[in-house]
Amino acid sequence: MIESGVLDMETLLAESVSPGVAGGSMVSAEATPDRRSGHELERALDLWEHASAPFPLDEAVAYYQSTGRHRVRPDLVRRLEAVKAAPGTDAAVAAWLSMAVDQADGTYATYYGQDYLHHFVGDDTARTDAMITAVVADLAELEASAAVGAARRSPQEARARAATRLLTRLAYLAPQATPDRAGIALVLAKAAEDSGAFAAATARAAALAREAVPAEIASAVRRSLVPTTRLHDELMFIRMIQIFEGMYQQIATAVATAIRCVESGDGPAASRRIGRAADRIEAVSALFRVLTTMPVDAFSVIRGYTSGRSAIQSESYRRVIDLSGGTAEAGRPTLEAAFLAHRDELAEADALEHAMLRLDRGWSLMKRSHWGITLKIIGEVSGTGGTDGASYLRTAVDIPLFPTLTRVTTA
Ligand code: HEM
Repeated sequence: MIESGVLDMETLLAESVSPGVAGGSMVSAEATPDRRSGHELERALDLWEHASAPFPLDEAVAYYQSTGRHRVRPDLVRRLEAVKAAPGTDAAVAAWLSMAVDQADGTYATYYGQDYLHHFVGDDTARTDAMITAVVADLAELEASAAVGAARRSPQEARARAATRLLTRLAYLAPQATPDRAGIALVLAKAAEDSGAFAAATARAAALAREAVPAEIASAVRRSLVPTTRLHDELMFIRMIQIFEGMYQQIATAVATAIRCVESGDGPAASRRIGRAADRIEAVSALFRVLTTMPVDAFSVIRGYTSGRSAIQSESYRRVIDLSGGTAEAGRPTLEAAFLAHRDELAEADALEHAMLRLDRGWSLMKRSHWGITLKIIGEVSGTGGTDGASYLRTAVDIPLFPTLTRVTTA
């Protein structure tokens, strides 16, 4: 149940301020009354029911982006629920609909589109990096276009610059996708001093980045943006979660693979994997530079709409911890246990230990930055996952990924 104060605040921000940071989203502001009222989707659904056309997913996405999950018409939610439950519904459409009809029982996974994105990416690491690349491209383009006409040093301009900078960090955030990185850097460097050319340059750089993304992943990423509100800042928040989730998933895969390498005696392969995972985690400061532009008021509205959906439910985050030095998967050791058991006979054991400690330091720094941002944005209030909030996160900062290794190294 959404409190009425939160509803009022959402309307105030979405309707009375110009689109962008601390205001409404551009798609919502620019939507026609026909789209915003749901009539466009209603007609498309009528047509679809009477003709053997593909499900009107783009119309559904456009409607949801213009109005937010919690303001969609209940009759349309019921129609979409029926489509989701129908046995013949395409699996990708059903996965998208699980985001669209989750108003009463939403989770973190349905919030950011875990199953929908997984449908296109699976557990494939190259496709996951392609997904991260597409999310970064969409986010940079969205923020740069919202910054057109914004004052120099305004919050929107700062957000846009931080988001565009992510395009220059793709070699670390998504190393397995290989867009024309030099081309991206050149386009952005040329536009750096000319604020008039900034949005166009970001769009060109985003297009270059998307060249490394299979078309079906790029369109799935575009459709995976299903906000609960009409606020611009929620679009950034969802994109951030999707990038972090991709990263957690890649790190979990790297740790699982490294365990197998250690068990089969291949120390150099294990240390390469963990080294690349550490590179990823060391790039998160660029993500936090975007996240920290979240305004307090806008986030308090988003929190009101996302109660019970917390990243504390993140499966891939938990998997990184479990596989590293926590609770291993059935019948397998953690990476820490495997390393300690095989250290003496492992080639280049020192390099692996160094990579593991780098990963641990980066992970800990990430937790510290997350705690700092939480304090800044919500203070000491409790989290949407029901914890004490910042104090819970502060305690987690001190828990290493590799507790025994860290104790031994420190000693
Ligand atoms: C405005 C930004 C954010 C704030 C204020 C915030 C706040 C919080 C809070 C209060 C918690 C504690 C659990 C709870 O009760 O909900 C938490 C947990 C968590 N958050 Fe965030 N968060 C933010 C952004 C993000 C983003 C973008 C991600 C990326 C996925 C993320 C990932 C996590 C994870 C993985 C946990 C679980 C940590 C653990 O159990 O140790 N957070 N967050």
